[in-house]
Amino acid sequence: MPFGVRSKPTRTRGRALGGTNLTALLSKLGVTAHRAHRRPQIVRDAVGNFPNRRLAKSSFHCATLILPIMNRPRFPLFALALLAGVALIGCSKSAPKLRVGFAQTGAESAWRTANSESMKSEAAKRGIELKFSDAQGKQENQIRAIRSFIAQGVDAIVVAPIVETGWDPVLREAKQAKIPVILTDRTIQTSDESLYVCFIGSDFYEEGRMAANWLAKHVDGKGNIVELQGTPGSAPANERRKAFADGIAKFPGLKIIDSQSGNFERSTGKQVMQAFLKKHGKAMNIVYAHNDDMALGAAQAIEEAGLKPGKDIVLVSIDAIGEAVKAVAEGRLNCTVECSPLFGPKVYDTIEKIRAGEKVPKKSFNQDELFDSTNAAAALPTRKY
Ligand code: AHR
Repeated sequence: MPFGVRSKPTRTRGRALGGTNLTALLSKLGVTAHRAHRRPQIVRDAVGNFPNRRLAKSSFHCATLILPIMNRPRFPLFALALLAGVALIGCSKSAPKLRVGFAQTGAESAWRTANSESMKSEAAKRGIELKFSDAQGKQENQIRAIRSFIAQGVDAIVVAPIVETGWDPVLREAKQAKIPVILTDRTIQTSDESLYVCFIGSDFYEEGRMAANWLAKHVDGKGNIVELQGTPGSAPANERRKAFADGIAKFPGLKIIDSQSGNFERSTGKQVMQAFLKKHGKAMNIVYAHNDDMALGAAQAIEEAGLKPGKDIVLVSIDAIGEAVKAVAEGRLNCTVECSPLFGPKVYDTIEKIRAGEKVPKKSFNQDELFDSTNAAAALPTRKY
């Protein structure tokens, strides 16, 4: 018989497990080895009180597997240690995965697709169980997703809020359930900043300011602008609009002659641009788009109207998706301000810090750059989205 195990078990009082990690584990469970073997109910009761129920469950399974073997009197000590070690490795291998719920806005743009991909691939790389919800552009769907994450008892909730307002009630529910909420990409307006732990994103105001400054220089402070806004009520639309208006205010020759939402979508951007071309004709010579997808849609509309985007009409936008940087290199767009969507690594690093009890900054922003005819071509080979 291997390891001197008898064929018929002799019930003796449990062997002491002094010096092994298992003892510590079991004493955390509030039970001694022999009591666990003789009275499994005691273990179950202790497991019920253990702070992490999934860890407690696997510990319980390990304990019930090991203890009957160890109770045999002639069981060699070295085998005991070996078995305990193997069992503990097994326990740690089946340690619970971090469970994160991500309430995404939708799939309105190439930027958004890159953002979802970053969150998914980084979760997979780290062995994090990601519950991904696509709200299809509707705040009510995002709120429903957050409630479902709360009901499932996830370890953290990540939200990219579609619009800025209307979040307090559902975030209060998450806080009551003691689930940390991390805002990513877009900010919110709230009367209680403690409803979320932190924000990780880009500085949308700075992006709008950079676009305005670049344009003012490029057109020598003169021109008639049409603006393609993002989703109404969203933080990027609100802030990019305000920053741009503030930026061009110093140049009396620069005017916004029309402004409408293209909802951050290429097809809607194109439709709005077709309407602008009909309405304003040659009176407009600049497009400021709150994202690249709308700018690329507008470029199509301009081409279809027999004009040259980037030459007859100047196009400035935000995001710096690969396709837009390429269009800048080719002269179809004139400038795109970067807004990196690759938040996955930073978001999960932050969640891990929060779980370890570390302090994290309330707001952290990406450092973004700008691409125009001077640097777009050189940047193309290293663009990551
Ligand atoms: O919130 C970020 C914005 O949302 C991006 O600029 C845009 O492309 C996206 O859909």
